Amino acid sequence: MKLLITGIAGFIGSSLARRLVERGDTVLGIDNFDAFYSRATKEKNLESLRPHIEFTEGDITDRAALDTLLARGNVDCVVHLAALAGVRPSIRTPWRYSHVNVVGTAHVAEAMVAHGVGRLVFASSSSVYGNNTDVPYCETQRVDDPASPYAATKRAGELLLDTFSQLHGLSTAALRYFTVYGPRQRPEMAIHKFCRSIDRGEPITVYGDGQSSRDYTFIDDIVDGTLGAIDSTLHGCRLYNLGGTSPIRLDGLVQALGRALGKEPIVLREPHQPGDVLQTWADVSRARDELGYVPKIPLHEGLTRFAAWMRGETEW
Ligand SMILES: NC(=O)c1ccc[n+]([C@@H]2O[C@H](COP(=O)([O-])OP(=O)(O)OC[C@H]3O[C@@H](n4cnc5c(N)ncnc54)[C@H](O)[C@@H]3O)[C@@H](O)[C@H]2O)c1
Repeated sequence: MKLLITGIAGFIGSSLARRLVERGDTVLGIDNFDAFYSRATKEKNLESLRPHIEFTEGDITDRAALDTLLARGNVDCVVHLAALAGVRPSIRTPWRYSHVNVVGTAHVAEAMVAHGVGRLVFASSSSVYGNNTDVPYCETQRVDDPASPYAATKRAGELLLDTFSQLHGLSTAALRYFTVYGPRQRPEMAIHKFCRSIDRGEPITVYGDGQSSRDYTFIDDIVDGTLGAIDSTLHGCRLYNLGGTSPIRLDGLVQALGRALGKEPIVLREPHQPGDVLQTWADVSRARDELGYVPKIPLHEGLTRFAAWMRGETEW
């Protein structure tokens, strides 16, 4: 199979590319090394991949760059992961998030139609559920009350791709990833930030009363689910939750991190942040039935693996 991964230098993109290369697929990738976090980190994500992939430094909002890539022909599937991620920064620059996450997604879909590429896997997010109180979240719930511009752009992406599916027959799986963690996780995400500080004996800042909860999902499970979506032959625009299915409260997460690191966390408390939702929890029945998705890595094991990677004890 020949695939194009957008955002290939990022956390999920580089992890997915590794698995695709291992199973013998041909992988093209595009990334613009957006400054959300350091270029050096993304270059490191790509380091061992570079000899095995065709990498282009470019921007998904530049249609010509996408045309050049897809004009090489025979791409079977695009996995569209490039985006501005992160909830809180989206409140400061909603126009940038809209430009990259919505306009960029339109460019990707348009270029696919123009070059006859029929299969798209799109990274959506659990954030589309906003502050829905009915848990676990399932794909049939209403999702028209996003709590941040980031969430709104992800929902907009889903809707846009649904129209491409109806109008142009683009077959799409929109994957609602639930807080992904593991080796190479984005440095600003809670588990990564907390782990580094706890390991150095520095205090961590916890927002809110510690009762908010997240359905954390280990990167290997996310890659498995994404592979299931790549290989699926279902048509139309299908939405799927990919979560770990065992949510944990923030205070519980901090204790679990302390155990994984063998250190006592020092916690500073700050008020709840606007845009942050109170809980996430995935019902993954549809992904299980249609993509064969079954999350396998429990949080304590995932955190132990993350800690080992962060301390440089394991290659990844
Ligand atoms: N990590 C999570 O917990 C999580 C949860 C839900 C959804 N997602 C989604 O999954 C996808 C991947 O997330 P991630 O955690 O790997 O993030 P990431 O920031 O590590 O990866 C995204 C990559 O996209 C690239 N990029 C950004 N703008 C671009 C542009 N205009 N053109 C080309 N490349 C561009 C970045 O340089 C980066 O390498 C994103 O769409 C994100 O919104 C992630």
